[in-house]
Amino acid sequence: MALKAIKVVAPGEAGVVSNAIVPRVRDDYLIARTKAVALNPTDYHHAKYYSVPGAILGCDWAGVVQEVGKNVTRFKPGDEVSGVCHGGNNLELEDGAFAEVITAKELAVIHKPKDLSFEDAAALGVGIATTGQILYAVFQLPLPSITEVVREDRGAMLVYGGSSATGTILIQLAKLSGFTVYTTCSVPNFDLVKSRGADHVFDYNVPNFEHEILNTAHGKHHSFQYVVDCFGSDDTAEVCARLISKENSFYHSVKAPLPEAFKKIRTEDSVQATTALGYLLLGEPLSIGGMDFPADPSLEEFSKKWTPVIEELVKQGKVKPHPHGVIAGGLDAIPGILESISQGGTRGKKSVVTVA
Ligand SMILES: NC(=O)c1ccc[n+]([C@@H]2O[C@H](COP(=O)([O-])OP(=O)(O)OC[C@H]3O[C@@H](n4cnc5c(N)ncnc54)[C@H](OP(=O)(O)O)[C@@H]3O)[C@@H](O)[C@H]2O)c1
Repeated sequence: MALKAIKVVAPGEAGVVSNAIVPRVRDDYLIARTKAVALNPTDYHHAKYYSVPGAILGCDWAGVVQEVGKNVTRFKPGDEVSGVCHGGNNLELEDGAFAEVITAKELAVIHKPKDLSFEDAAALGVGIATTGQILYAVFQLPLPSITEVVREDRGAMLVYGGSSATGTILIQLAKLSGFTVYTTCSVPNFDLVKSRGADHVFDYNVPNFEHEILNTAHGKHHSFQYVVDCFGSDDTAEVCARLISKENSFYHSVKAPLPEAFKKIRTEDSVQATTALGYLLLGEPLSIGGMDFPADPSLEEFSKKWTPVIEELVKQGKVKPHPHGVIAGGLDAIPGILESISQGGTRGKKSVVTVA
């Protein structure tokens, strides 16, 4: 069967192909027919810089299971699901999500709740994986309870860039983990971040916003032991470095490599600064940007624990997807959307396409 897919068709160029084939059924993987896929900045970076011709692009997807590998226990054909893939994988060219029929590893797939559309669910994958990794694998906070309301007060967390796709999910999980959340975004996204639970919101476009954050925090006797930089530029890292507590604190940047600006300001050993590659959560080796990474079994084990927890939190409506906008044109629209991501992309919204 010849299928439509979005591949790297020449170095640095994404294109539509109509001759993709059904991926092979690996033991820990399932095969699914996609109903909707969502786009992330990483898709553009893979298309433009990282992936070899022939690689199928795309990470975020939702669809219906068609077939399962022999080790798969949580899914059966016909299940409505969503998940995350390693799109543009140089080691397994068939691994991407931007195709009519895809393969996905069981540990990175959740059941789609009935009250979410496929388009809603497609916007979850990278977001729930990345934020779980930051809070519960890197910071090593206890996983949030799926049965109890949090009673513990863990103090304040600063989520820099709360209106990003990573930020809106991070805010919700930080709240479920007992934090008071301070966040930054532009004014049009204040209602969005508040709807996800942010306690204190600041416009980073205003010159004195750092002072506003510090004044509010001092007034509430808060200091920032945990800071997540969802933008990861030198500028945002500098702000985070000035705001973070100097005692036993943790800064994480979503963008690798770690912005050097942070460590230039925060030189204390008691301040830890990290970044991470979300793809390693799949428990597979990586070759990306000319660097090779072995599979990380501890992250694979983490994913097996995290995925059922986040699946339940999504089912209970405690974690909502990032808002999305559906772009017309199906898979054919994706090369154009990738170009728009290179120009800055959408703000406060993930681009999703419906797969016919
Ligand atoms: N390491 C990993 O595994 C991993 C995983 C996921 C994402 N990432 C990376 O994380 C970054 C964010 O991805 P995402 O999908 O979460 O982002 P996104 O949804 O594309 O974020 C867009 C938001 O960033 C904010 N923003 C834009 N310019 C800004 C600036 N100069 N200063 C501060 N904020 C600014 C805007 O907020 P306002 O509109 O409110 O101004 C905008 O809504 C990307 O670089 C991505 O590649 C890495």
